[in-house]
Amino acid sequence: MKLVQVENDTEMSQVAAEKIISLVTHNPTATLGLATGGTPKGVYAELRRDYENNHTSYHSIKAVNLDEYVGLTAEDPNSYKYYMSKELFNHINIKSTNTHLPHGNAEDLNEECVRYEKLIKSLGGIDLQLLGIGHNGHIGFNEPGTSFESRTHLVHLTEQTITANSRYFSSYEEVPKQAITMGIQTILCSKEIVLIASGKEKAESIKRLFKGEINESFPASTLLLHANVTVIADKEATALL
Ligand code: F6R
Repeated sequence: MKLVQVENDTEMSQVAAEKIISLVTHNPTATLGLATGGTPKGVYAELRRDYENNHTSYHSIKAVNLDEYVGLTAEDPNSYKYYMSKELFNHINIKSTNTHLPHGNAEDLNEECVRYEKLIKSLGGIDLQLLGIGHNGHIGFNEPGTSFESRTHLVHLTEQTITANSRYFSSYEEVPKQAITMGIQTILCSKEIVLIASGKEKAESIKRLFKGEINESFPASTLLLHANVTVIADKEATALL
């Protein structure tokens, strides 16, 4: 696992965006695995800026997102579908038919998980997966204890994750309690993985990740089993290393 230590969130975003832009330029039909949350916002701002200035084309790029809440409509500002449109997809020339998130409103959620997993396979797998990391080491919505063999599945969010995500909702009660997420094995099958982290609240999880102990109680530690992972983390997030 390679560590790129950067000064701050801005530099983290620039370095991560450069990696994505380089892939999109060299492999114009690539499949990108994307994340939501606070950390990638700067990355998407960089991609928007690059698109405006340099016209990097996403015409034949495919995108698959890590996860989606259960029960929110695409129009709900808290849905990850809405987030992706607002932060990235509406601003670049990616075809909407090439952008994919799990359908959190599907009638049969388990069937939806199977469909999503098949979809990723049919796209030839993920060329580059962007990841954030939770305070408890979750990646996607794979909470501690999730099997490293897991594929796309339905999850019950932990209290810690609901509390962490409630900052985006008007109350704790409004946060969905379930989500669909790519599984850990789904993520591990990506050809390349880029994990980004900024801020002091990520310092503990970055410390634990680099401690090197591989254990299902800390989902991100699965990344130690992958041959092509880059962690881009700022000074605050690496303060405990
Ligand atoms: C988002 C996701 C989550 C976040 C993680 C960190 O699609 O799957 O694993 O990456 O919760 O979130 P932020 O970046 O908001 O600290």
